[in-house]
Amino acid sequence: MKIVSTIKELTAHITTVKKADKTIGLVPTMGYLHEGHMALAKAARKENEIVVMSLFVNPAQFGPNEDYESYPRDLIRDSRIAEKVGVDFLFTPSVSEMYPSNGGIQILAGPQSNILCGATRPGHFDGVLKIVTKLFHLTQPTKAYFGQKDAQQLALIETLVRDYNFPLEIRSVPIVREEDGLAKSSRNVFLTEQQRKEAVVIHQALILAKNHYLESDNNIEATKFAKEHIKANSNGEIDYLQMLSYPDLTEVAEQTEKVLIAAAVYFGKTRLIDNIIF
Ligand code: PAJ
Repeated sequence: MKIVSTIKELTAHITTVKKADKTIGLVPTMGYLHEGHMALAKAARKENEIVVMSLFVNPAQFGPNEDYESYPRDLIRDSRIAEKVGVDFLFTPSVSEMYPSNGGIQILAGPQSNILCGATRPGHFDGVLKIVTKLFHLTQPTKAYFGQKDAQQLALIETLVRDYNFPLEIRSVPIVREEDGLAKSSRNVFLTEQQRKEAVVIHQALILAKNHYLESDNNIEATKFAKEHIKANSNGEIDYLQMLSYPDLTEVAEQTEKVLIAAAVYFGKTRLIDNIIF
């Protein structure tokens, strides 16, 4: 595995790979790798000749009072994991390498970005689409891999690719969970022992909401029921728990084919997200 930190070096490698007509799988991450990221890399490894993983804590997608500074970072550990799962190029640019200038041109995520995580994180998805656009141009992937864990992010990236004709395929990977059901996340390290135990209520609540909805066909009741479960069994502060149609993220209606139930819950300062799609 080669660790590459400049655009110049990355471009040289990508040019060689493209000349050899090899397929490229891109796995964008912010690092502090866990089994969720590894599942993405493994899928990329299976389906492509060359795997590029990016590791960049993207300041553009963090709000002023969010955890950009404290976001966990460990390049040595990450590079060991990336190598083990078969990454060929690990792209680890600095902030000035990715954002050397600001000409004022913005990428604005559409209406799918105003709800769920977007409601309390203004500009977050603009920042995600900005970095993802740059990574797509720089690595020219055949396929790019994203987790269903960030369902709203996935929906927005799929929309970006479709609307702006990026010549690549988006591959989505199911959520990897801890044994008790908690979705794996780089932020789980911030949980106290007690919060870690309680955090399992998120997944439980999502399953309750799903079952309730399938039995009653009443999405309002189902989400109410799930919220009550979280309140009764933890100190978690619910940011949202909502049921929407997927991937358009509009109200559930009779013609809805796929339902998303998504939740964001604070445990102390740590904000955890999870969802189920059915
Ligand atoms: P990050 O949170 O590091 O996640 C990188 C990728 O791993 C995302 O596609 C995310 O959905 C996926 N992922 C995280 N936890 C997962 C889990 N438990 N199971 C399956 N997949 C999981 O998401 C980002 O970074 C950034 O927004 C990024 C897309 C890299 C842009 O900066």
